[in-house]
Parts: sequence; C-alpha cells; structure tokens
Amino acid sequence: MDLKDIVRAIKRLSPLSPSATRLLALLQSPDSDFEQVARIVEYDGALTANVLKVVNAPAFGLGHHVTSVSRAVSFLGEKMIAGIAIASCAPEVYNSELEGYAAQRGQLWQHSLLTAIASREIAGHSTRELRPEEAFTGGILHDIGKSVLSQYLAGETLTLMKAMESRAVQDFVEAERLALETDHSEAGMVLGLHWNLPEELLAVVRHHHDPGKAPEEHRALVYCVHLGDAMAQMHGVGTGADTLQYELAPETGDYFNIDEDTFQSIFMDVRLEFEKSRASFLG
Ligand SMILES: [Fe+2]
Ligand SMILES: [Fe+2]
Repeated sequence: MDLKDIVRAIKRLSPLSPSATRLLALLQSPDSDFEQVARIVEYDGALTANVLKVVNAPAFGLGHHVTSVSRAVSFLGEKMIAGIAIASCAPEVYNSELEGYAAQRGQLWQHSLLTAIASREIAGHSTRELRPEEAFTGGILHDIGKSVLSQYLAGETLTLMKAMESRAVQDFVEAERLALETDHSEAGMVLGLHWNLPEELLAVVRHHHDPGKAPEEHRALVYCVHLGDAMAQMHGVGTGADTLQYELAPETGDYFNIDEDTFQSIFMDVRLEFEKSRASFLG
C-alpha cells in the first residue's frame, strides 16, 4: 500500500463548501458574532434549509416553528451551525457505504452525530474550560478519515477482525496500520488539512484514539471527544467492524467530574436526543 495513493485520493475529494469554510474561519476569530454567521447561512439556500430543519427538530422541543435564520443561529450556536454546514456539503464522506469497515451507508453519519451529542454533554462536566459547541463539532468530524481508508481496507476486513480476535494487535488503529501503514486518524488529518480545519479540530481528528499525544492546549477537548466516541460505541452505534475495538485511555477520568450515576444519566439523555434528532439532521 502506497501512502501517496491515499493522499492523492484525499486531494481528489471535494473541498468544503464556501459557506462551511467561511463559517469555520469566522469561528476562529474572537470577535465573530451571530449576525455574521446568520448572513453566511442566509446566502446558502441548501444550508438554510438544513439549519431550519435541525432547529425545528422535535429534539429541541421549541414548541414553535422557527423560520428566521438568525433566531436559528442564536439558538443552535455557531459551532453547531458549522457542524451542520460540514455534514451537508460532504455527503461522500458521511453518507457513503464504508466497505472496509463493513458499515452501511449512513452509519458514519449516525456514529458522528451520536459522538457529537455525547461529547457536547460530557463537555459540561469537564474539569477544564471547554465549549460544548466545539465538542459537538469535534464529534461530527473525528472519524472523517474512515471515509478515505475504507476503500483500501476493503477485502482485508476479515483479516483485521481475526487479528483483533487473536490479540495480535491491540486495537483497530493498530490493525489499520498493520494493513495499510496508516490509520483513519492520520488519513483524517490529511483530509482535515485539505478542508482547512482549524487547529483544535485537527487535533481532535488526529488524536481521538491517543488523546494524551494531543497538543496541551487542545488536550481537554480531545479527551472529551475520546469519551464521547466511546459512549457512542457503548450504545452500539459505531461503524461496523471496529465498534468497541478501541481502548479508553486510562487517564480520561482525570479530565471530568463524572461519577457513575452522572455517567448513567448522561448515557440515557444522549440516547434520547440522538433518537429524536437523527432522522431530521441530514434528511
Ligand atoms: Fe476513530
Ligand atoms: Fe468514532
């Protein structure tokens, strides 16, 4: 397997839509405001439709119909708007069948959405300062590399699963490296650079399976998505062959104030919200 082939394949993927790119860039500047975000959304008809669909989903329980983009933006938050923009302009990433992971069409999207909801809830219990919307976007993006690796893993999935079973490898990341000399976090990083993602989101994509190696300033966010990812898999919402085939970093607990009861209640809440919003999100 030649790594250059993978990088070339990534560069052939469409870039993010102009509105998604502008939203992400805007969010990096400290003085962005709701009005600027709303204006970008309003100029993109498809994005407007998706944003209104999300804000009016039963999961948010608004009880009345929101028709104005600026109200939707102030309600959902800027990072979540960016998440919606990313997902709706990259169907080849989120909505394709992941043959190499034995995952069906849409499974990556569901796993990403559940990870995003879980990460957002967990962020509220962090011992460090974390923005819940940032955790949500990180959850949406963390596994983008799978869409790329999938085609190269196809045909090797059974071998990888056997390697897991016989404990020849420790986790699925190691199995990917064994087969392809790279893994979905590294491929995701290349795609993330192609998409011009901001640094903190690149850190999530690159290190969500080894959060201790993330740059210090983004580490708490990466641990948050790491735990959100694990929670999504515990719900049985993974991407096929690799579900529950990763280790939870033992020091994860140091980053959160979560006892067993709290964990249970987050676990239940996250599931409820996921069930209500999954159909309405991408449509
Ligand atoms: Fe992953
Ligand atoms: Fe994941």
